[in-house]
Amino acid sequence: LKAAVFASGTGSNFEAIMETKHLACEIALLVCDKAGASVIAKAEKYGVPTFVFDAPDKATYEKVIIDKLEESGISWIFLAGYMRIAGPTLLRSYEGRILNIHPSLLPAFPGVDAIGQAFRAGVGTTGVTVHYIDEGIDTGPIIVQEKVTILKDDTEESLKKRIQQVEHQLYPKVINQLLQSK
Ligand code: GRF
Repeated sequence: LKAAVFASGTGSNFEAIMETKHLACEIALLVCDKAGASVIAKAEKYGVPTFVFDAPDKATYEKVIIDKLEESGISWIFLAGYMRIAGPTLLRSYEGRILNIHPSLLPAFPGVDAIGQAFRAGVGTTGVTVHYIDEGIDTGPIIVQEKVTILKDDTEESLKKRIQQVEHQLYPKVINQLLQSK
């Protein structure tokens, strides 16, 4: 079973997935929309082929991505810090097989800087959500959520660290549970 990770940035979640023993699928492709993103070097380190593109027009780029996914035999897609919204072309081809991870308890704090949003809002609890995607920004059916308490002496940085730790164990776990139940 082959899957692709889509990422635009650092790739700490990509790395956590790659470091998982007994992952229920092979990560056979990294799709990245930003030349020079650190996740690309991480993929190279693990010997994962990369597909880096830069296309302004959604319909064109999704068609190109789908061709690449099909050519690589990809059946699942895991978004991990991918900063583009999936359009109908991609959603139709991989319906019910595209997951995303987001650092908040959705529907609270969607979009960019979810950790900063929660921190500034002064809420006592935030967390991590793994969900199927749809055409919205961080919308789509929720699969699992894990809470993270915001401590009295937390800084945005310390909170971010704890949220990332939760992300790194939760995403591979959910991927395995989901793929094994199929
Ligand atoms: C993660 O917090 C993820 O939840 C969000 O984007 C961030 C990506 O971080 N969608 P990284 O590139 O995996 O380090």
